[in-house]
Amino acid sequence: MKILITGGAGFIGSHVVRRFVTKHPEHHIYNLDALTYAGNLENIKDIEHAKNYTFLKGDITDAAYIQSVFEKYQFDGVVHLAAESHVDRSITDPMAFVKTNVFGTVNLLNAARDLWKGDYEGKRFYHVSTDEVYGTLGATGLFTEETPYAPNSPYSASKASSDHFVRAYGETYGLPYVLTNCSNNYGPHHFPEKLIPLFIHNIIEEKPLPVYGDGNYTRDWLFVIDHARAIDLVFHEGKNAETYNIGGFNEWKNIDLVKVLCTLMDRKLGRAEGSSAQLITFVKDRPGHDLRYAIDATKINTQLGWQPSVTFEEGLAKTIDWFFDNQEWLANVTSGAYQEYYQKQYVNE
Ligand code: NAD
Ligand code: TYD
Repeated sequence: MKILITGGAGFIGSHVVRRFVTKHPEHHIYNLDALTYAGNLENIKDIEHAKNYTFLKGDITDAAYIQSVFEKYQFDGVVHLAAESHVDRSITDPMAFVKTNVFGTVNLLNAARDLWKGDYEGKRFYHVSTDEVYGTLGATGLFTEETPYAPNSPYSASKASSDHFVRAYGETYGLPYVLTNCSNNYGPHHFPEKLIPLFIHNIIEEKPLPVYGDGNYTRDWLFVIDHARAIDLVFHEGKNAETYNIGGFNEWKNIDLVKVLCTLMDRKLGRAEGSSAQLITFVKDRPGHDLRYAIDATKINTQLGWQPSVTFEEGLAKTIDWFFDNQEWLANVTSGAYQEYYQKQYVNE
C-alpha cells in the first residue's frame, strides 16, 4: 500500500512512521508534516534514507495542496496524526486548533473521498484521536467506546469535531475508516510542554515544577511505543467503521507521578534523595481542567489481542534514559520560540 502518515515529525507520529517503515517493507510510507514548533525531522533521522520512505513538507490546512498530493501519489491508506495537541495552547489560541484539527481533517477526508471515488476496496482512513473527547470522569468509572462525547477544552472540542467528521464521512460517503481514542502518551521525543518531559527538563535545570491546582488530577499513561504498536495493529486488523479505545490501565494522580519522577531523577543525577521534590510549586489551575481520564481498553485487548508491552516503571526509566542521552535534542527544542511560550505560560506563576 501507499500510506500517507500525517504529523510524522511529531511525538507520536515519529514512532508510528518508524514502526511502519521498518516493520512493513511491503508499504511505501509518505510522511506529510508542516514542521510546526512540535515537528522535528531529528525525530526520524534514523529512517530518513529508507527505500520505502518519502517526506513531504506540507500543511493539511491547504486544501488545494492536499488534493494535489493525493492525486500525485495515489495513496491507498491514511494514518492521520497531524494536529495541534497541547491543551494550554488551545486555551490561548482556540482558532489554531479549529484550523488544523477540524479544517485540516476535513481537507484530508475530502481528498481521500475524491481520489477513491467510491471504489473503497483495499482503502482505509485511520483517524488518531484522544480520550479527552469524552470529557472528565469522577472518582470512579472508565471511558468505554460507548461513553458520550463531552469535550471541555478547545483542544478536545476540536478533536471531537474531527472525530464526528470522520464518522460522518463513513455514513454519508461510505468512506472506510477506523478511529482510536488513546490516553496520555509519554516517551522519547515528547515535546517539553507536556507534563512529563517538561518536568524532566526543569529538574535537570533545577527550575520550579509548576503543578496545576492541588495536583489531584488523574491521567492514564501509556508508553508511546505501545501506542504505535496499537496503531499498526488497528490499521491492519481493525474493523471498518469501528472505534477502539487505547490505554494502559495505568492511572496516576499528577502529584504522585511527579514525586516518583523526582525520586528517579535524583538517582539518575546523583543528587540527594528529596532534592528534586523541593522544586514542586503549586500554581494557578488550568481553566476547565478535567479531573480524571481513565480508559477501558478491553475491546482492543479482546478483539485484536493488544496489550502494553512495558510497565510504567520500565517505560518511565526508558524515557528518563532517553532524555539524558539526548540532551542536545532537548536543548535544540527549548531554544528560540519555546522561551517565548514558557514566559507567557509560566512566568507570572
Ligand atoms: P505533536 O504536537 O507532538 O505533533 C503534531 C505534529 O503535527 C507535528 O509534527 C506538527 O508539525 C504536525 N502538524 C501540526 N499542524 C500541522 C498542519 N497544519 N499540517 C501538517 N502537519 C501539522 O502531537 P502528538 O502528541 O504526537 O499527537 C499526535 C496525534 O495523536 C494528535 O492527533 C493528538 O490529538 C493525538 N493524541 C495525542 C496524545 C498524547 O498524549 N500526546 C494522546 C492521544 C491522542
Ligand atoms: P498534559 O501533559 O498537558 O496533558 P493533558 O492536559 O492532555 O492531560 O498534562 C497532564 C496533566 O498534568 C494535566 O492534569 C495537567 C497537568 N500539568 C501540570 O500540573 N503542570 C504543567 O505544567 C502541565 C503542562 C500539566
